[in-house]
Amino acid sequence: MDSKARILELREQLHNHNHNYYVLNSPTISDVDFDMLMRELQDLEAANPDMYDPNSPSLRVGSDITKEFKQVQHKYPMLSLGNTYSREEVADFFDRVKRALNEDFEICCELKFDGTSISLTYADGKLVRAVTRGDGEKGDDVTANVKTIRTVPLVLSGSGYPAEFEIRGEVLMPWGVFERLNEERANAGEQLFANPRNAASGTLKLQDSSVVAKRSLDAYLYFLLGEELPADGHYENLEAARRWGFKISDTMCKCRTIDEVFAFIDKMDAERKNLPFATDGIVLKVNSLRQQKNLGYTAKSPRWAIAYKFQAESAVTRLNEVSYQVGRTGVVTPVANLDPVQLSGTVVKRASLHNADIIEKFDLHIGDMVYVEKGGEIIPKITGVDTAARFMLGEKVRFITRCPECGTPLVRYDGEAAHYCPNEASCPPQIKGRIEHFVSREAMNIDSIGPETIEQLYNYGLIKNIADIYTVQPEDLMFLPRMGEKSALNITAAAKDSLQVPFERVLFALGIRFVGATVAKRLARAFGNIDALMAATFDELKAVDEIGERIAGAVRAFFAKDDNIQLVEQLKAAGLKFEIEEEQGVEKSDILNGQSIVISGVFTHHSRDEYKEMIERNGGKNVGSVSKSTSFILMGENMGPSKLEKAQKLGVRLVTEDEFLHILQGSES
Ligand code: IVH
Repeated sequence: MDSKARILELREQLHNHNHNYYVLNSPTISDVDFDMLMRELQDLEAANPDMYDPNSPSLRVGSDITKEFKQVQHKYPMLSLGNTYSREEVADFFDRVKRALNEDFEICCELKFDGTSISLTYADGKLVRAVTRGDGEKGDDVTANVKTIRTVPLVLSGSGYPAEFEIRGEVLMPWGVFERLNEERANAGEQLFANPRNAASGTLKLQDSSVVAKRSLDAYLYFLLGEELPADGHYENLEAARRWGFKISDTMCKCRTIDEVFAFIDKMDAERKNLPFATDGIVLKVNSLRQQKNLGYTAKSPRWAIAYKFQAESAVTRLNEVSYQVGRTGVVTPVANLDPVQLSGTVVKRASLHNADIIEKFDLHIGDMVYVEKGGEIIPKITGVDTAARFMLGEKVRFITRCPECGTPLVRYDGEAAHYCPNEASCPPQIKGRIEHFVSREAMNIDSIGPETIEQLYNYGLIKNIADIYTVQPEDLMFLPRMGEKSALNITAAAKDSLQVPFERVLFALGIRFVGATVAKRLARAFGNIDALMAATFDELKAVDEIGERIAGAVRAFFAKDDNIQLVEQLKAAGLKFEIEEEQGVEKSDILNGQSIVISGVFTHHSRDEYKEMIERNGGKNVGSVSKSTSFILMGENMGPSKLEKAQKLGVRLVTEDEFLHILQGSES
């Protein structure tokens, strides 16, 4: 078989395996075999650039090409649904439909997914475009990002699909992914996503689809539009779409009576708590498309559908006090202290008030009866005030102007909702928070020091900053309450062990804003040691892959402070690693001397940074764009089509990852 035919065959096989794995949940081959087929396809595609296909299964990893989103007009406007929290209104809807149609009808009941809506266009069985809802008339073209969602078929299976059609649905971030993402963001001192819906829509709007790919979004489809759909029934059309490879919920159900509708609502209200993603209600749709057409639309929403929203679990209780918490990065969070109230199985005494704007919006007074909700969020929040229950107006809640811990006047940066305490150097919770971060597992991993020990060490004046961890002696510690000789020795031994922690983790441990573990790794690789990083200008920082203005600014701000420079000096003196170690067995050579090499695409064996390093270590130069003088392109998966075209036009050689590694091996022999 020639390689072109094999490419087509592999693409089809891999599409099927993806569908079996992600949509049907029943893979028919092992992961290893799948990877082997994928590698074979990638190699063949690399050798046959003319076979480029934007819908190849090899392109699921996303591209690192940054671009603005194009605005696209929706062929059919994306309307919203009338919604209600009341069962009576659901019954009214049912009666209205009955009267208007005056014939038998069925209602298709489905889950209302709480994500962000998307419209997918398929032509000749291939995904050609994915557009967000936008303003309903036009939305953002997020095709590259949607292609990274494994449950969205790039190429359809089966037969009977219209030559061109749209299918709409919801992009979701499953709870597990959401929690992991927020944990990472907390570690990097970044603002958390309030719920999976915001996380899903935020992710879909990222410019870098290779980051989107890592976030494991999912998508359920629930609405087909087109001229030649297979059936008159909405339910039947979705069943057909399931056969074409789409992920369709298997909880949907056709009902003939209002009692059946209520039975479905009750069943799902109980079961939804066990689902791996967020839902916020049930959607009822008249099943027949002919009948839908008869019922028509109001200006905003269809007359043939309605959403019944589940009651968000909420309670009303009294606001007794507002206190303020200061985090490691200095953010001041207002917290409502409440009369204890039962809410979804737990007793709630405290709830987040988010920021000064929210307090102002609610015109909050002490003694107010407030609504507390535990929606998708982890921390309960105040969602409103029952002003009718205000029989006496308590003191108005005003956001504090000074840090509750150290008295420093608070600041608010342009465009940010949060207030900060700028006294990084001596505000106690900031110092303790930084120490907690420093000793955490992903940072220095000094696990014998927990938050309580830090509190003690700090309160007794034994540790005033991170560097003191390395100078404190067991004899100083032994006399602390609840601390024995053994624990004291454990702490100093763990501190000593941590001197072996590599530079990239030391850099992460410093707790620079926005510098999470991955960013720290990039910076460490790009600059090699702390002195070079400290000396780097804003532009030099920004030139590093995936480092934008926000991170570059945060790094510059960190090293502009004398206290931080001093801290680094103390840690250096304590013996921490402040430069990357040369990888063992990787020799320098001049095999790439004088060669200009462009790196493009996403790689399997090493990261882009690593390849950049290898090029430089072997005498080559990594350049950004393809030109006549480019020696070759180190080509990963999903290389941008414009680069590919340019390379072909200029006759620049394309070198695959494996070929490149081979070339370097030549250098060692
Ligand atoms: S049907 C014209 N079905 O809810 C009707 N929508 O307010 C098109 N949603 O924007 C929507 N689950 O994002 C439909 N099973 C479902 C849904 C659903 C969630 C969202 C969708 C829409 C909003 C309607």
